[in-house]
Amino acid sequence: MININGKEFNKFIDKEEIEKVIRSLAERINLDYASKSILFLVVLKGSLFVAADLLRHIKSDSEIAFISAKSYGNEMQSSGNVAITGDYPNIEGRHVIIIEDIVDTGLTLHSLIKKLLESKPASLEALAFLSKTEMRKTDVNVKYIGIEIPPAFVVGYGLDFAEKGRCYPDIYIIKSLLK
Ligand code: IMP
Ligand code: MG
Repeated sequence: MININGKEFNKFIDKEEIEKVIRSLAERINLDYASKSILFLVVLKGSLFVAADLLRHIKSDSEIAFISAKSYGNEMQSSGNVAITGDYPNIEGRHVIIIEDIVDTGLTLHSLIKKLLESKPASLEALAFLSKTEMRKTDVNVKYIGIEIPPAFVVGYGLDFAEKGRCYPDIYIIKSLLK
């Protein structure tokens, strides 16, 4: 068990399981994009660990860029208020894959996809290491999902609670029934 800012979290997904899921996601991408060049857009900061682990298994020629899409502040609920920042190359005609740590309501990813589609990529897909599919408030297509989880707050492996807890190599789930 760990304690972050007075909240208790139990171990939920260990690093061996994480590595297995990462490898299988990479295998799927390697098959789907065999001879295509990919532009990975990594959504900071949470997806840093997913990206670093996943991208070392990618065989296609690829480019990496970082963007930010913030919907959370320091709370445990999505505000629906999304700001997107970051420098990324022109995506027109490119095969783009967005890398997200977690998709919850889907509001963040939905805004991101809408904005990116305006630049006419050749293709645009999303990867989410974790998905709380029950929590969706918008219809958003996530082609690559690592693990479906229940609608409870999680930390570790890049995911934070008020900026704390990102550095744990395993994923922890909140003990109370808070969503
Ligand atoms: P959405 O817009 O509700 O899909 O929220 C997406 C963003 O909220 C993610 O990229 C995370 O930064 C954050 N988030 C959602 N659920 C969790 C969680 O359980 N732990 C930590 N961050 C979360
Ligand atoms: Mg995020």
